[in-house]
Amino acid sequence: MAIIVCCVVAALVVIGSSPWWLPDIVIALRNRIFARINGPEGLLVPGPQVTVEHFRQLYAHPAADGRSKGAGLSDLFWYWLCPGPQVHQEHLEPGPRYDDVARTTRKILARPKTEVEAMVTTVVRDYLKELDLQRPRAVRLRELMMPIWADFYYQLVFDEPAPRAVRQLIVDNANDVITALKCTGLRHLAVRDRLTRFLREAVDNGRIPHPLPASLTAQEQAWFLQGTFFNTAIVQMSEAMTHLFLVVAQNPDIQQRLREHPDDDPYLDHVLDETFRNYPLFGIAHRITSADIAVTADLTHCPPGQYSASATQISIPLASRIRIPSSPIDGKPSAPGRRTTSRSG
Ligand code: HEM
Repeated sequence: MAIIVCCVVAALVVIGSSPWWLPDIVIALRNRIFARINGPEGLLVPGPQVTVEHFRQLYAHPAADGRSKGAGLSDLFWYWLCPGPQVHQEHLEPGPRYDDVARTTRKILARPKTEVEAMVTTVVRDYLKELDLQRPRAVRLRELMMPIWADFYYQLVFDEPAPRAVRQLIVDNANDVITALKCTGLRHLAVRDRLTRFLREAVDNGRIPHPLPASLTAQEQAWFLQGTFFNTAIVQMSEAMTHLFLVVAQNPDIQQRLREHPDDDPYLDHVLDETFRNYPLFGIAHRITSADIAVTADLTHCPPGQYSASATQISIPLASRIRIPSSPIDGKPSAPGRRTTSRSG
């Protein structure tokens, strides 16, 4: 009897403590799978050869531009997530097609800050009216956020508020994607297809008030919209808000400062930066080099004498596979709100 009780207690302790140890194991496993499928020759950044001080230049280098070729898991990953992965921006190799798609994404996203703020405010205000805030209940933060971003990105793309049924279509697809991605449920392709059909009809009927990538067919244009604006955007923003809420909930001093200084945008930016640095949404990014690359370390933030002059210059040959895991890039978690990274622009 005592053995059974001990086993049950041990099992409960293991299950109960899983929020602390499980995520690290899952991320380590994912990185190992990536390394195995994409080939052992992947160059880890930052790592012994390429350090944090080289990172910014390397990431921005025009020859660090190959994306999916040779990245077997990426093919599978995108096929699973979106219809038409071959036209998803993250999957396109550099060239006219990539430029066409990336330009369209930027044009749809580029709105004046005041306009975007007004849009989000209206969307959130209307959504709060729908929620029954009087009755306390358990919610999954990510799911609570999804209708907000479904409505917001629908407005960016269609220039009008989302009809309730369409918003649900978008939320159902996004929820299905992220549930499957976290391996807590199966992917339901009927849910995905319903949204694709809706977008294809919108493209065919000229309901999208933006020029869509001319190098894509109508079907590919619908896939492009689904992949970027109704899949990636909704999932990423809802997850990002969830990370932010959890960080703010655990840091009463940050809560207080945000409440007392609602217009202090730089402070809010620091909180966002440090939240995503400490709790990144992405597991890993990768690149395949299209030419030899020579990079000199940026030692602006480095203690004097830490590097010898010869150690600052590195070269990476053509066709190297670069792997950039999203664990805190300098390996040092810090309090969100206290900036430890410099900003590029
Ligand atoms: C806080 C929210 C977000 C985070 C943390 C995030 C993070 C990232 C990261 C890490 C990458 C990969 C970069 C690389 O491979 O070097 C990426 C790529 C991308 N994201 Fe996001 N993202 C967010 C929101 C969004 C939204 C809202 C959209 C669309 C409206 C979007 C669309 C894209 C696209 C199209 C790419 C591919 C870019 C390219 O390779 O040209 N993301 N994102």
